[in-house]
Amino acid sequence: MKKIAALMLLVVPFLGFSQPKTIDQKVNSLLKEMTLQEKIGQLNQYSGENWATGPIVIKPNLQSDIQKGLVGSMLNILGTKYTRQYQDLAMQSRLKIPLLFGQDVIHGYKTTFPIPLAEAASWDLEAIALSARIAATEASASGIHWTFAPMVDISRDPRWGRVMEGAGEDTYLGSKIAYARVKGFQGNLGDVNSVMACVKHFAAYGAAIGGRDYNAVDMSETTLWEIYLPPFKAALDAGAATFMNAFNILNGIPATGNKYLQRDILKGKWDFKGFVVSDWGSIGEMATHGYSNDTKESALAAITAGSDMDMESSAYRNHLEELVKEKKVSVELIDDAVKRILRKKFEMGLFDDPYRFCNTERELAALNNPEHRKIARDIASKSIVLLKNEKNILPISKKTKTIAFIGPLVKEHKQNMGSWAVELPGMNYTEQVVSQWQGVQNKMSPGTKLVYAKGCEIEGDNKDGFADAIALANQSDIVILSVGELWNSSGEAKSKSNIHLPGVQEDLIKAIQATGKPVVVLINAGRPLIFNWTSENVPTILYTWWLGSEAGNAIADVLFGDYNPSGKLPMTFPRNEGQIPIYYNHFNTGRPAHNEPVTNYASGYTDIKNSPVYAFGHGLSYTTFSYSDLKISDNEMKTNQEIKVTVNVTNTGKVSGEEVVQLYLRDNVASVVRPVKELKDFQKIKLNIGETKTVTFIIDNQKLSFYNQKLDYLSEPGNFELMVGSSSGDIRCKDTFELLK
Ligand code: BGC
Repeated sequence: MKKIAALMLLVVPFLGFSQPKTIDQKVNSLLKEMTLQEKIGQLNQYSGENWATGPIVIKPNLQSDIQKGLVGSMLNILGTKYTRQYQDLAMQSRLKIPLLFGQDVIHGYKTTFPIPLAEAASWDLEAIALSARIAATEASASGIHWTFAPMVDISRDPRWGRVMEGAGEDTYLGSKIAYARVKGFQGNLGDVNSVMACVKHFAAYGAAIGGRDYNAVDMSETTLWEIYLPPFKAALDAGAATFMNAFNILNGIPATGNKYLQRDILKGKWDFKGFVVSDWGSIGEMATHGYSNDTKESALAAITAGSDMDMESSAYRNHLEELVKEKKVSVELIDDAVKRILRKKFEMGLFDDPYRFCNTERELAALNNPEHRKIARDIASKSIVLLKNEKNILPISKKTKTIAFIGPLVKEHKQNMGSWAVELPGMNYTEQVVSQWQGVQNKMSPGTKLVYAKGCEIEGDNKDGFADAIALANQSDIVILSVGELWNSSGEAKSKSNIHLPGVQEDLIKAIQATGKPVVVLINAGRPLIFNWTSENVPTILYTWWLGSEAGNAIADVLFGDYNPSGKLPMTFPRNEGQIPIYYNHFNTGRPAHNEPVTNYASGYTDIKNSPVYAFGHGLSYTTFSYSDLKISDNEMKTNQEIKVTVNVTNTGKVSGEEVVQLYLRDNVASVVRPVKELKDFQKIKLNIGETKTVTFIIDNQKLSFYNQKLDYLSEPGNFELMVGSSSGDIRCKDTFELLK
């Protein structure tokens, strides 16, 4: 049989049948037909007018440019109706090369999932991949081919508004999540319900100095390779189709014009075959950085560095042809960028049918699929973090007589969506988003009275509503108090120097706590906030982030014990802004602080502890877990061997629950000093009452490796400390092992 097949391959061309062309062959044939102008056209991307995600520049020629084949892609065109209209224009062009439609589908499309930082708190990779899958199903049904996600920027600075878009501070967790999100979005890329992922922002954008958005980044190669690059590599390993570069300069060179990042690392060492899109206007902005004299020089720097598509700078449109004529840019360089883009258009099936993603019936069904909302509710519950539950006030009994629900966020709908939610035209937020009030009301039994007072606004200093709120609290058996920041206080260009709970909300908490009633505080935010008085004085706190369409139901599920919280913080929560940047995997220094605040020549602050309020990985449950019998298969290992670590985890409480068992390592001595601990593995397990499970981790050489500037990633012989626990601040068992020469 095999022989016949091989023979057929040889003779078929002579029989006059031609083999189907490979995508590369198709791309090459098309390229031959293209004029230089048409090639450059493929490198331009513009926003639609209705939904600007950056400083919009009116482009009077947009429509005719598309008709002339001078535009390769559009963003911010939502829905089959509009994407079809634009695709119609592209089909009037000489070569009928279809447009690619990109969109920031960051946490859901119509069904809005928790903000990415919140989802990261679930530590549930399957759930995270599923959320991306559903987002892809809805977006692709709505004409979108390409999402500008996942954002995989590590950030150790909660002042930076964009922490809400990523997976937090940790490289290991961030890499796993990056992988899961790409897999989820892309599914079987080429299927009509999948979208291309765009991994962003390459690179190191999350380390903007002072947490100020768009600010410069300055970091060592060690930190770049060890902390910031691995999530990008993980996303690439998952098959990410595209990358986006970044607004920041990295060690003096703008990321957009950075050859080291884009050509040497991404397209060189990592052999990335997809294409790179600039960030919004970031090519043009290189002149403002002081890296080029004008947009023309910026275009030259960007294309030379490996930035294939120009989002909203019109730098390529206006200058590339001239640069080619002046022989500053070779046609081969342009061809390489064009081929990368065309290849994706072929892979997405757009040359077979440019309207493949424009089926209105499919759109209607996908955007109104009740199953999606069920999953959104489940993922939202999993994203909630129980920070404190000292007097076991939670869960609330459904038989409670009177519940006061107080606070400025109780009856809000849109707020729960958080930043970067897709604002579909005509979206009715009251219908689309379950408010916290509705969610709690849905749980009420006939005998329970639910009463409401706003208390105060999210921002501002007006305390007029306090008296009503206090009176209501006094008449109730329990108070739920929902506070936080405005939904648009985090996100792009939303950096803050003061990340305390805004306005008079903490005063409201104090006033309600003073009634002596049991109080549950819900904190809604897009970043870690500071609320020290509440942390010290209120026994019960849930961090609810922004949870999306099903926020109210998910919160109610947790409040009333229908879901036992299992979230764990993906970022460290500081005591004050002066501690930032703060992260668990810090270095020891030569003078670690033993007493805090420090008194004597030690590395710390004289006015505050080094430790955070809540550690990375922290999160409680309505049950308790004990850890025992930590065993290592061998206390010695060689680089080509693995060792097995087992630990028993038992549910010692009164309800079933989930625990994220976290494995940290410390390389005690190395040629490049290692952090005090680094997350190297985790498992989320479910345990019934009284049940014990043995959790197994495998330690291989990769887990012991670090970046050495001369030698790349490597491990070094010596002693390692192994720590297993419930958070980076709650290590339950330890052991050591040795890596042999
Ligand atoms: C953001 C990107 C986003 C792009 C398009 C930029 O301002 O930095 O993350 O994908 O706009 O909306």
